[in-house]
Order: sequence, then structure tokens, then C-alpha cells
Amino acid sequence: MTDERVVSRTVAQSQAERSEIIFPADSNALGNLFGGRLMQFIDLAGAVAAVRHCRAIVVTASMDHLDFVAPVHVGDLLILKASVNRAFRTSMEVGVRAMVEDARGQTLRHVSSAYVTYVAVDREGKPMPVPCAIAETQHQKRRFADAGRRREMRSEETHRARESRAALETGWHV
Ligand SMILES: CC(C)(COP(=O)(O)OP(=O)(O)OC[C@H]1O[C@@H](n2cnc3c(N)ncnc32)[C@H](O)[C@@H]1OP(=O)(O)O)[C@@H](O)C(=O)NCCC(=O)NCCS
Repeated sequence: MTDERVVSRTVAQSQAERSEIIFPADSNALGNLFGGRLMQFIDLAGAVAAVRHCRAIVVTASMDHLDFVAPVHVGDLLILKASVNRAFRTSMEVGVRAMVEDARGQTLRHVSSAYVTYVAVDREGKPMPVPCAIAETQHQKRRFADAGRRREMRSEETHRARESRAALETGWHV
């Protein structure tokens, strides 16, 4: 079988970083960052890495293993780092790590991590092949291998979810 992908890019070429100061409008009743807003920041940071990697339009196919490790407070400086863990045929798994920077102490506190899968699509929304991702460092190579294992688990889950959707009629079920 010939590989349709003609280009490869290193992981470093598409790595992305985003910084946000948290405002009260993004907080919950406890004055901490609302989880859904953090998911949005994660999705956007991951999308930047995915777009840089494939240089095409991407859509989010799934977000899995999202951990909220520690709260983010109003006024915190949130840093998001995104890196393509592995590219498959038309999809890419991007790992996003969210941290709070203590500007005075110059330390970073880990607050959340997620694996997000993006699919490259053409203007009609049809999936299209993406370049291979070349892992160069030891960390990148470990994440590359782990992404392969996660893909297997995800494929089984996606398959099961499709079967249940097909079996159900439309509407709410209790
Ligand atoms: C994601 C999407 C493009 C997949 O389309 P599809 O017709 O199912 O296409 P395919 O079955 O050929 O799958 C294409 C790729 O998506 C991957 N994929 C599909 N569903 C997935 C899921 N739930 N999780 C992870 N990957 C998924 C497949 O593994 C495949 O990857 P590969 O080519 O690297 O092997 C389509 O489901 C879609 O457009 N979803 C809506 C996306 C969107 O609007 N996101 C924003 C949410 S508000």
C-alpha cells in the first residue's frame, strides 16, 4: 500500500503555547475558572498545534482523558502548551497541558491535561490525509508510542458508540 501522505513534520514545528489571564466572567460560584471555559482554552490551544501540523482546516473529533488536577483562580496566569503526539491517516492526537504560572516565584503549577483528536478536513468537511509527525526527543517518542495505544482503545469505544447510536431512535431515552 502506498502512503498518500507526502510531507512529514517534526513535532517541534507545530508546538503551540497560549497564555490567558483569568477574569471574573469565566469563574464559577467559588471564584475558580469554570471547567467548560478551561475545556475551550484547551481545545483552542490544541487546534493551533493541529492546524500548524497539517496546514488545513481541522475539526475536533474527541477530547478524552481530561483531568482537572487543581483549581484555577480569578487573576491567575494560565499557560497552555499543546503538542501533536502522533498523526494517523486523517487524524492527529494532540496533548494539551494547562499550567498556572506564578510570575513572582517563576514556578508552574499543573492544573489540567487532555488528549484531543483533530481531523483535517477539506472545505466540504471531508477528512483528508495529514503529514506524519516525527518525534525527535525521548519525551516525544514516549508520547508517540502512548498515542498509538490510546488510539486502539479509542477506536473500540468509537465503534461501540456508533453501534449504540444506530440502535437508538432519535430523541431522549431514559
Ligand atoms: C470527525 C469527523 C470529521 C469524522 O468523520 P467520519 O465521517 O466519521 O470520518 P471517518 O470515519 O473516515 O474518520 C476520519 C478520522 O476521524 C477519526 N475519528 C472519527 N471519530 C472519532 C472519534 N470519536 N474520536 C477520535 N477519532 C475519531 C477516525 O479514527 C479517522 O482517523 P484516521 O483517518 O486517522 O484513521 C466527523 O464525525 C465530524 O465532522 N464530526 C463533527 C466535528 C465537529 O463539528 N467538531 C466540533 C464539535 S462542536
